[in-house]
Amino acid sequence: MTDLVVRRLLIDLNTPFPSRWNGGDAFRSAYFSALSMSFPLGEQYFIDSVRAGLETLPVAEQQRLAPEVQGFVGQEATHRRIHGLFNGHLEKLGYRNELERRAGKRMRANAHRDVRIHVAATAATEHLTAVFADWMLRHPEALEGAEPRLQTLWLWHSAEESEHRSTAFDIYRAMGGSEEWRVRLFRYITITFLADVTRQTIRNLWHDGSLFSLRTWRSAGRLLFARDGMLRGNYGLWRAYMAPNFHPRQQDAGLAEQWLQDHNDQFTPVGQAA
Ligand SMILES: [Fe+2]
Ligand SMILES: [Fe+2]
Repeated sequence: MTDLVVRRLLIDLNTPFPSRWNGGDAFRSAYFSALSMSFPLGEQYFIDSVRAGLETLPVAEQQRLAPEVQGFVGQEATHRRIHGLFNGHLEKLGYRNELERRAGKRMRANAHRDVRIHVAATAATEHLTAVFADWMLRHPEALEGAEPRLQTLWLWHSAEESEHRSTAFDIYRAMGGSEEWRVRLFRYITITFLADVTRQTIRNLWHDGSLFSLRTWRSAGRLLFARDGMLRGNYGLWRAYMAPNFHPRQQDAGLAEQWLQDHNDQFTPVGQAA
């Protein structure tokens, strides 16, 4: 039921990059760096949650969903490794990942909760990342002026987020998770995720010395709050998750498929589930 491919990205991540790696634009750099800082911890949580969810299912269901989970785990494990390298450069530039510390504390405080809660939180985050990912593929100008290798990193990750958008959701459904908790967790995750990324972006801008520059906030306005901006422009797709009959596959993943086809010289497949 799946064709999730695990890909090894053929880009150089040993060469350092400057603080304003995203086209010299302070806000776009600080914001995407903050997103990157959330990935290694978050993606490990998704892997653990989905695996734990799978284990609770009857054997026949486990067998049906295992290949999908295997592909999902392979993709997220690759993302967290690559973003770990990316974040290593940020660390050398003096950036502190406060987001990871705060989110880690929250995760430990909630670790005792039912597995369905963790899978619901994962499905919710995966919807946010899939919506943002499709937006990135529609708006390559968000990475305008960044080195091609870094553009490839972000668009490859976007394409795979769009590709595996349904995995956690399908596990949640198979576990018999309720609609009420699915939507409740989605609201909670949206608020905490946006708050975490906003705080880390501000911290990054402070470190970069550009927090109080008008140019910084003009760029923020364009990126996030323009009519087709990353936040304002995605309101409808974000909200769709709360509909009772929602399924992630209802949203179009065509751009991701196209990007992966057009850039297959940038990676090698290392495994294919099923
Ligand atoms: Fe990912
Ligand atoms: Fe993901």
